[in-house]
Amino acid sequence: MKTSVAIVGCGTVGTALATLLGKAGYSIVGISTRNPQRASEIAQSVGARQSSAAPWEFTRNAQWVFITTPDDVIKETCDLLTSKDAFCPRTVVIHCSGAHPSTILESARQCEAAILSVHPLQSFASAKQAIQLVPGSYFAMEGDPAAMPAARRLVTDLKGIGLEIKPGLKSLYHAAAVTASNYLVSLIDMSLEFDRLAGISPQTAFQALTPLIRGTLKNVEAQGIPEALTGPIARGDISTVSGHLTAIREHLPEFLPMFVSLGAHTVQLALDKGTISDEIAHKLQHILRSR
Ligand SMILES: NC(=O)c1ccc[n+]([C@@H]2O[C@H](COP(=O)([O-])OP(=O)(O)OC[C@H]3O[C@@H](n4cnc5c(N)ncnc54)[C@H](OP(=O)(O)O)[C@@H]3O)[C@@H](O)[C@H]2O)c1
Repeated sequence: MKTSVAIVGCGTVGTALATLLGKAGYSIVGISTRNPQRASEIAQSVGARQSSAAPWEFTRNAQWVFITTPDDVIKETCDLLTSKDAFCPRTVVIHCSGAHPSTILESARQCEAAILSVHPLQSFASAKQAIQLVPGSYFAMEGDPAAMPAARRLVTDLKGIGLEIKPGLKSLYHAAAVTASNYLVSLIDMSLEFDRLAGISPQTAFQALTPLIRGTLKNVEAQGIPEALTGPIARGDISTVSGHLTAIREHLPEFLPMFVSLGAHTVQLALDKGTISDEIAHKLQHILRSR
């Protein structure tokens, strides 16, 4: 028997889920967004039986209900559905947020439904792109133990790779994703600012830094951490690090705290790699601290 699915909040992720699960043989019983015209268009394109701005009209017909609204309204959407008795016993209610635990759906338990969070560890700019990127992506899963088999089956049917995480530590998992993705962007921006003051235009700097960034990622992939670490801290080159700190303090002091914090962590990595002694590490930490 096909698993029946309802999608509440049908933007980038909701549309991709409806499309991919439809292709995988699931029965899409209903699609809901606040704009009924758009809900109807998406329902037609994925072969859903119903569309409505009032999801409680069809969620009781679904074994799995996805709440794929923006993060800020997942809880209130779930609470509204619970108040309308819109879940059956054993319905699995799922959200896809990386930032929030499954427990933001806990009101659904009043209907004896089970709750899950299943987060695709990807960045999707559009539904079309999400449909292409979901297969092969990792999905962080946590929630009611009784519903975990459903999470595993969902990820397998989406051709993804499951990652079971501890519910209480979801914020740390999400901080890891933010660091690897969003903060990488911020880090590259800091590099471009340094180059801009050094007289290199952002366009040229970006072109020049891109092969370096790609090379570093290849090294990390091939050798791991800390082996992939190179540069003045890994070499214990105290005068070079000191020169960086002087130049940044003079020209772009607002970046100094970030540069110093990253430097301090890099000293620890160089120690772990074994390329600097305890004495050099101590000296490096001292000049970083006395910025
Ligand atoms: N996009 C990504 O890269 C990505 C990656 C991983 C996980 N996620 C997660 O996936 C979930 C959905 O994200 P998304 O990027 O698909 O968001 P989205 O494109 O903004 O879509 C959100 C949908 O929710 C509907 N909606 C908005 N406000 C609503 C409300 N108050 N009540 C009911 N429906 C509402 C919107 O349509 P109407 O305005 O017509 O109602 C829209 O269909 C989020 O939890 C997000 O964290 C996203």
